[in-house]
Amino acid sequence: MDERVKWEQRYQQAVEQPFYGREPSPFVVRALPLLPAPGRCLDVAGGEGRNALFLASRGWQVTLVDVAVTGVATARRRAAQEYCSLALAVADTNHWPLRPDAAHWDLILVVNYHSRGLVAAAPKMLRPGGALLVEGFAQEQLGRSSGGPQNPNLLWRPNELIELIAFPGGGAPPLRVVWYEDRLVSGDDSPRHRGPKWVVRVVARRQ
Ligand SMILES: C[S@@+](CC[C@H](N)C(=O)[O-])C[C@H]1O[C@@H](n2cnc3c(N)ncnc32)[C@H](O)[C@@H]1O
Repeated sequence: MDERVKWEQRYQQAVEQPFYGREPSPFVVRALPLLPAPGRCLDVAGGEGRNALFLASRGWQVTLVDVAVTGVATARRRAAQEYCSLALAVADTNHWPLRPDAAHWDLILVVNYHSRGLVAAAPKMLRPGGALLVEGFAQEQLGRSSGGPQNPNLLWRPNELIELIAFPGGGAPPLRVVWYEDRLVSGDDSPRHRGPKWVVRVVARRQ
């Protein structure tokens, strides 16, 4: 099934509450002290906006991009209900003109979106001092039903994020990794991710 259609269906079925719940990822909350002062944030594949809304409430000017119209509509509705300002765009990040050479963002968020191309492009898109936050699932998650794709090609390989971020090559600025974990955790980060799961979490700063 087409990736966009899959997400549209999931979000359409989430009537009672958003598919990933209303709370931000606990890692995004914990990472706040590692981030620069609030500025421009790009939430890539931000879904229904749980992280974007939280960051907006902390003073960030957030732009959320996602391919699923239904997810973005939920984010828009929640933003209106919570008197929060979000910039929202429905777009496929494989085709959206991300302007990877324009150092524009103070924070780029890639939460549970396993896109190597995007993470590789992120260092150049950050302003000096800006931060990249990535949270996702590792290959050890294969066979677990506690979240994440079951395609081994999508899951993060050991040290892969470090290589992409700290040793980007191609003239991209290396980021300084200020938080890294790659381990089995028991805490749930959303109503859809219950039970032990193997996660990778990174915060890195452009110098
Ligand atoms: C696991 S959800 C994560 C949503 C959000 N980051 C969160 O943590 O709540 C993955 C998201 O990626 C989006 N997505 C998948 N492929 C995409 C693409 N090519 N371009 C933009 N968004 C995409 C889906 O629509 C979905 O909202």
